[in-house]
Amino acid sequence: MNNRKDEHVELAKKMYEDNSKSDFDNLKFVYNSLSQISLADVDLKTMVANLEMDYPFFINAMTGGSEKTKLINEQLAYIAKETNIAMASGSLSAALKDEGVKDSFKVIRDINKEGLIFANIGAEYSKAKANKATDILDADALQIHLNVIQELIMPEGDRDFSNWLNNIEEIIKEVSIPVIVKEVGFGMSRETIKQLVDVGVKSVDISGFGGTNFASIENSRRKKAEFDYLKNFGQSTVISLLEAQGFVEKIDIIASGGIRNPLDIIKSLAMGAKAVGISAFFLTYLLDHGVEETIELINSWKQELKVIMTILGKTNIDQLKDLDIIVLKEAKDWCIARDIDYKKFANRSSKQ
Ligand SMILES: Cc1cc2nc3c(=O)[nH]c(=O)nc-3n(C[C@H](O)[C@H](O)[C@H](O)COP(=O)(O)O)c2cc1C
Repeated sequence: MNNRKDEHVELAKKMYEDNSKSDFDNLKFVYNSLSQISLADVDLKTMVANLEMDYPFFINAMTGGSEKTKLINEQLAYIAKETNIAMASGSLSAALKDEGVKDSFKVIRDINKEGLIFANIGAEYSKAKANKATDILDADALQIHLNVIQELIMPEGDRDFSNWLNNIEEIIKEVSIPVIVKEVGFGMSRETIKQLVDVGVKSVDISGFGGTNFASIENSRRKKAEFDYLKNFGQSTVISLLEAQGFVEKIDIIASGGIRNPLDIIKSLAMGAKAVGISAFFLTYLLDHGVEETIELINSWKQELKVIMTILGKTNIDQLKDLDIIVLKEAKDWCIARDIDYKKFANRSSKQ
């Protein structure tokens, strides 16, 4: 297990590409020349899973469970504290199996006592284990991850997924903090989101295809690497957000997967996401540039978000949902095939 986490970090970094090509490029804002607002009036606050966030992006689930990842968690927690953004831990599975590695997670709370911290577990866990996991971090919310493809390609992964929805339903009833169900980079369909909503889930991170690819990561850990053909499986983050449209007013949708820059964040928010998670980009940046430069980058992103919102003439996150967006190419093809009204996005400002 310890080695697995170290390998995930190593492989995620090695395979990380500064994706110059992304499905986010298939979303284009209609530009208007008159902004009619002042940058000073832009407010980046958002509410997600009943938690108030000062900034609409956060460090999504990654590490913990080994000495190396303890150091990474320590650094990420310090970055989150200094920049006042939320942070999720990696799966606490390791700590639930071995008390000896608990510290590699607990360090996140030790460093950032007041910050928003999410604990993370897999959907195979019972409600008792869920409580134990949230206690370790004194967590503000619990993420439950769905990673069927990853488990099946992982040589030592789970093979039985028959109880997941049941477990999620039980955990929601049991734990006293908000629960966020998330993917790990394969995206979600509206059918999945409906199944989750039907058992009481109120916050969903669609974590889509386009960034970290756990099919490729796990495949490269296999002796024969026979699952190369699964590397393109899943829905992109943009397509997952299109799939989620029927739910954006009912539950909190969170976007993640392949976020490259503040414009991708704004596009996600304009598609109805309440907040946006970033994993590999921040991890890679931290490993390449260190803690101080990562803090500078995040602070710069906050300012850049305000610049983009000023260009778009919107002073708060909620108003972004009125912007006109053209859905192009593969994303548009997907909408046509799935009966998603893509023209609606192009004409939202005139419908108010
Ligand atoms: C090194 C690494 C480890 C990860 N471990 C977890 C995990 O333990 N639990 C989880 O829910 N997601 C995990 N993820 C998935 C991320 O939270 C996220 O859903 C996915 O990486 C897509 O975002 P990205 O493209 O910004 O990396 C991990 C991602 C990375 C890069």
